[in-house]
Amino acid sequence: MKRVLVFDSGVGGLSVLDAIVASGHALELDYVADNAWLPYGLKSDAELQARVPALLTSLVAQWCPQIVVVACNTASTIALDQVRAALAVPVVGVVPPIKPAAALSKTGVIGLLATPATVRRTYTNDLIAQFAADKRVVRFGSSALVEAAERKLRGEPPGKAAITEAIEGLFGAPGGAEIDVVALACTHFPLLAKELAVAAPRPAEWLDSGAAIARRVANLLIAEEGTARSRRAGFTDPAAARGHFPAFSDRGFTEFAAIQAAPGFAAVGV
Ligand code: DGL
Repeated sequence: MKRVLVFDSGVGGLSVLDAIVASGHALELDYVADNAWLPYGLKSDAELQARVPALLTSLVAQWCPQIVVVACNTASTIALDQVRAALAVPVVGVVPPIKPAAALSKTGVIGLLATPATVRRTYTNDLIAQFAADKRVVRFGSSALVEAAERKLRGEPPGKAAITEAIEGLFGAPGGAEIDVVALACTHFPLLAKELAVAAPRPAEWLDSGAAIARRVANLLIAEEGTARSRRAGFTDPAAARGHFPAFSDRGFTEFAAIQAAPGFAAVGV
């Protein structure tokens, strides 16, 4: 079976992993969360451009995936070129679903919900200029929502404050009352799609990139149809990740590993 390494700062990449599983391909899935550095959305561009390629280079050497999925908009929109330059295997990144959101909107007003880093990125501005120049894009950046998703996957209540703040930040902004499509441009946010939809003042489409990433992975690997098998999950701060182990076990992960800090990044069992 071809092996895929799914990478994120935390549990957000599980929304992408779930989409890969749902796509029905016989793939072996490994997952690594750089949770010692969560949230990426509050890190500088230079820090991410240095850390993410270094961490992935070491992981690819040890875990031998045939493809790496950077299941993190915040890392993809700033460090994808560096990651691709560093790795010998194909790399699939996740970028804000501006294009499908613009195509779907009837009112011409789309919401963009991402981390504080992703909403201000040149990459994001370029996507908007290319695919949504004739649309109004209402942006809101939230790191609190990332923490809320992390809580939810620990089995805790995500908390209303971050959800309410994000909904008000979008629908309460100038033009926001017309939003009919929201692009979820952080992989943590589809994990809160239900909570967000319930809190919204009007029905909207909540779009994420998971299914598109799953299609890209299957095409690049020429993967056979079948059932995906989750294998090993690694964490740069395994002690902090313990509360998340059940969410990984529920998804079929059977091995948990500690990913040591630079320069070694050696994986050891926990
Ligand atoms: N899941 C990540 C993303 O897609 C980022 C979360 C964080 O800030 O670490 O942007």
